[in-house]
Amino acid sequence: MWNFHNPVAVHAGTGSLARLPDLLAGRRALLITFPDAAALGMEQAVAELLGTQLAGIENAVHPNPDVAWLEAMYERVWQQHADVPCIVALGGGSVIDCAKAMLAPTPTGRFAPVLGHLRDGTDFAPDRARLKSLIALPTTAGTGSEVTPWATIWDAAAGRKYSLHQAWTWPEAAIIDAALMRDLPVAATLASGLDALSHAFESIWNVNRNPVSSTLAAAAARSILATLPQLLRAPRDIALREQMALAALQAGLAFSNTRTALAHSLSYDITLQAGVAHGIACSFSLPHVLQLALGCDASVDALLLQILDATHGEQAVTRLSIFLESLGVSTDPAHYGLADSWEARLQLALQGPRGRNFIAAGVAPMAPR
Ligand SMILES: [Fe+2]
Repeated sequence: MWNFHNPVAVHAGTGSLARLPDLLAGRRALLITFPDAAALGMEQAVAELLGTQLAGIENAVHPNPDVAWLEAMYERVWQQHADVPCIVALGGGSVIDCAKAMLAPTPTGRFAPVLGHLRDGTDFAPDRARLKSLIALPTTAGTGSEVTPWATIWDAAAGRKYSLHQAWTWPEAAIIDAALMRDLPVAATLASGLDALSHAFESIWNVNRNPVSSTLAAAAARSILATLPQLLRAPRDIALREQMALAALQAGLAFSNTRTALAHSLSYDITLQAGVAHGIACSFSLPHVLQLALGCDASVDALLLQILDATHGEQAVTRLSIFLESLGVSTDPAHYGLADSWEARLQLALQGPRGRNFIAAGVAPMAPR
């Protein structure tokens, strides 16, 4: 038995940003975005669409939302905009995840109860009547956060990463408009595209997989393998941006039901300790993880070989390595200064919540097949 559930209303296609006022249906909204959105003209475009419904703008979201600065933003949002029912998040995964952390009220408007929940799981039951709704406008093709209930929140001072996940962290709607992605720099296009590829594979070699998630993930992976190299050579090609946007959406929908697995579990410490961008940190290990995944389940093996157009596992691993290396992404842990600690990191990552989703978790010994 299995089920697939995703409550996010998806609106897609170039120009679909224009639907935003209809989706708000007269509600006022706070716009949360990233600093460069103004220079790119996006902040103004969304502000004009919102007109008098725009309650305010928070535009200082930086990569990897950290509790160190989320606290001040949260308290400002709930002091100044407590009665605003909607948040519009315009940006990549960091912006959308940051917005998710702003949705729920605390009794005093202070951030401390949210932080307590993140740090030690302290029960956090916000007044549901005061919850804000989230409409996500992704400007990258990668995160999937626009169709998942998860927010990755960082606590660099404590050397930790948290996952915020509640019934109310699902976005109400997502607008997937490739025109918002056309000016994304090449490096961010690469990192976000590989994040989406990682979501697709992680959803396939996952104990929570189901026929719908695997079908979506396989379509996403095939499309990214074919499209991303072309897009990196022609980053302003709107047709290629649309293909990547669809693939990232498919991968997002897939892992919205499975969560991620070992490659993501490995990645978080690498981002915290070495500052490697999330999309690179969660993708350079994919060939290693593929090697570990093969041999666990015949239907998963068949799907992975089909995606990589390979006749046997070794060829599939080699093809995935060549794909990443051809994009300038080293698959060697030593490149990231991780050679000595790699085996220990692997064992630790397998024990984390995401690692336990991995199809080969618990299969001993954990050595490449
Ligand atoms: Fe990711």
